[in-house]
Amino acid sequence: MAVNSSSFKIVVLGTGGTIAGRASRAGDNLGYTAGEVGVAQLLESLGEYGAAGVALVAEQVAQVDSKDMGFALWQQLAARCDHWLAQADVAGIVITHGTDTLEETAYFLQAVLNPAKPVVLTCAMRPATALVPDGPQNLLDAVAVAATPGARGVVVVCAGNIHSARDVQKVHSYKVDAFASGDAGLIGLVEEGRVRLLRSWPSAVDFYEENRPLAHVLSAQVAIKSIVLSSLPASSWPRVEIVLNYAGASGLQVDALVGQGTNSVKGIVVAGTGNGTLHADLQAALLQAMAQGVRVLRSTRCVFGRVLGTAADAIPDAQGLSPVKARIALLLELLVLQA
Ligand code: SIN
Repeated sequence: MAVNSSSFKIVVLGTGGTIAGRASRAGDNLGYTAGEVGVAQLLESLGEYGAAGVALVAEQVAQVDSKDMGFALWQQLAARCDHWLAQADVAGIVITHGTDTLEETAYFLQAVLNPAKPVVLTCAMRPATALVPDGPQNLLDAVAVAATPGARGVVVVCAGNIHSARDVQKVHSYKVDAFASGDAGLIGLVEEGRVRLLRSWPSAVDFYEENRPLAHVLSAQVAIKSIVLSSLPASSWPRVEIVLNYAGASGLQVDALVGQGTNSVKGIVVAGTGNGTLHADLQAALLQAMAQGVRVLRSTRCVFGRVLGTAADAIPDAQGLSPVKARIALLLELLVLQA
């Protein structure tokens, strides 16, 4: 649906979330259903957003609570982004998304597409029916970022902040400003429709910290993209699971994941304590899994900081990725290996 006309377009892809949430009672910020209001309606509620002369095109890709996000929808979303990004008159894409798995979708899209144009995910912590919804301002800000000359890569816009897909994490379960970018900090701010850039826009190299040559990174990314956008069904993507270290942790979960015949996991990310430390029993089970061909990466359950690995580590670290993003990185790497 074209909402306004101009020389370039911003495409707004709706996937659901609280930004599209509806409660039966105005002002109920908890008892609502996510993913109910259509993306075209969200845009219409912005009123005079078109003053900047940007044509907005709405497309409903899905209507889900993002806790239910999965590989098939990621594959579909990547394909829709790829389609629109290839159009010369499309300056950028905005994706409305639930906050709960937003950082995973953002990281996945950056790793798969490494777009030269901006792909801006936005969200809300209050439903569209709230007395004071935060979605409309976030959506306006996201459109402003997508329309900014020079913007590129996958970013997240929430509460006036611009986060990179690699660094963003949901860190609060209720506050409107629910995201943080840890030690890396924000990419920038959106102030009255203008972007104040604090560091560079994302690029392919931000996603691999193993000092690999850029050519290697780019060719890996091209391989990932062609597999994800191929007809290979997402149901056949390798299984990668996350396990957690804690006081009294054992190897039981790992043993259960590995001993499932054809359903066995191909990769495990372990969210260790502190600097990626593991209970001896959990570590023994993981080493056993590695001996059986399962790829294992060690991340940390700490919200801030990263695992600082050493050459002596028996289990490789996750290159500063959070457990959920390390899982995606490992999944994509295994996908290329199995192709
Ligand atoms: C969701 O992630 O879809 C629901 C929660 C939210 O958007 O804040």
